Amino acid sequence: MDNAPKKVFVKTYGCQMNVYDSERMRDVLGPLGYAETAVPEDADLVILNTCHIREKAAEKVYSELGKIRRMKNDRAGKGAEMLIAVAGCVAQAEGEEIVRRSPAVDLVFGPQTYHRLPQLLAQRRASGKAVIETEFPAEDKFEGLNVSTVPRKSVAAFLTVQEGCDKFCSFCVVPYTRGAEFSRPVEQVLEEARRMASQGVKEVTLLGQNVNAYHGVDERGRSAGLAGLVAELSRIDGIERLRYTTSHPRDMTDDLIAAHAENTKLMPYLHLPVQSGSDTILKAMNRGHTAEFYLRLIRRIKSVKPDMALSGDFIVGFPGETEDDFESTLCLVREVGYASAYSFKYSSRPGTPAAESQMQVPEEVKSRRLQELQALIHSQQTSFNAAMVGRTLPVLLEKAGRDTGQLVGRSPYLQPVHLQAASALIGTIVDTHISGVGTNSLSGHYVRAAKHGESIP
Ligand code: 5AD
Ligand code: SF4
Repeated sequence: MDNAPKKVFVKTYGCQMNVYDSERMRDVLGPLGYAETAVPEDADLVILNTCHIREKAAEKVYSELGKIRRMKNDRAGKGAEMLIAVAGCVAQAEGEEIVRRSPAVDLVFGPQTYHRLPQLLAQRRASGKAVIETEFPAEDKFEGLNVSTVPRKSVAAFLTVQEGCDKFCSFCVVPYTRGAEFSRPVEQVLEEARRMASQGVKEVTLLGQNVNAYHGVDERGRSAGLAGLVAELSRIDGIERLRYTTSHPRDMTDDLIAAHAENTKLMPYLHLPVQSGSDTILKAMNRGHTAEFYLRLIRRIKSVKPDMALSGDFIVGFPGETEDDFESTLCLVREVGYASAYSFKYSSRPGTPAAESQMQVPEEVKSRRLQELQALIHSQQTSFNAAMVGRTLPVLLEKAGRDTGQLVGRSPYLQPVHLQAASALIGTIVDTHISGVGTNSLSGHYVRAAKHGESIP
């Protein structure tokens, strides 16, 4: 295979799992001579790692492909080549359609095939034709992706432990694009986390579409849940903080809730999407739980961990959603009190059951509801952040900030925190006195190095 120095440009859309996958693609390409470039015009290979969860995401990809095609033509004019690859969930869902709409595309491959990237590139060279790979292969993609040789400079890293979904919410494409639920074996995850720790990573966020449904096999051949995995991971020296996302209410087990109270490395932040506060809509969404079930769960979590920062996802304008249904969502949000939350207008995804519904909600209604919900969430987020002023929080310093001498880190509650501190402190946890709040971040002053176990006063 040709290992001459080449450049790859990767653009990542959508969820954190895509961010993780993009990193692994870079790892796989390294040994083939590909170095990363931030300038697509210079790239021998451009990869768009796409997201299909909402409508505009796919349209953005097609318009991006238009721009990249022009760069490809410019390079061809100079006698240089540019391969264009579309990866991720749009690739999985659209397949050949991508090459039909954008004939300049050379490779289309789904999320389960990244470990085969070298073969796919070779196949493209040999055939001279576009290669489309959207099968769900029997082999484990993670075995092949587990090759990170590139030293990681980051303090906080993602680690995919579970992928795919068997829940089939009626609006969602994930079960079709990411496939059936799959958990990586415990030892494989621990090994990757140990390697991260040895490269200076201090905070690991465990990723999965249903991360709390994790059920990997351990060394004794038994099945371990997420709470067990977290316990094992927290024994790794150097890993100071653990997070996980995204969770499903149905898989929020007692031992995982208890871990938040007992394990000081497990951060007090929980992203637990509920989508709607109306039982009628939850049923139509095939969520498999009621609003009351969710609220009971939240009460239990708060009783064990009163300072838990809660986050969620909401969809407004799901087919058939009435004003009353929407009111129930606002009601639920008021009762929970979120630290942050994401809300979206329902977007009809071809191939999903909800897309067939005759009760689609008009666009203006969706827009109004979204605005109202976002205003409520925003006010909750503002008061959650404002309550931090005057407190001293342990902040994991991640990188230099925009101003000179400024560093940015994260509070246990995932808020970005800006402070003046020596850059040698990057990668350490420092107690920070919080004195200011912005819309999405906090600012404060260095107090002292945090004690081990970083208990929050
Ligand atoms: N329309 C709008 N939002 C959606 N989500 C998933 N599918 C759709 C859709 N068809 C949202 C859900 C999910 C988040 C990742 O994206 O809120 O939790
Ligand atoms: Fe999609 Fe529902 Fe699975 Fe989440 S649980 S990935 S929303 S089908």
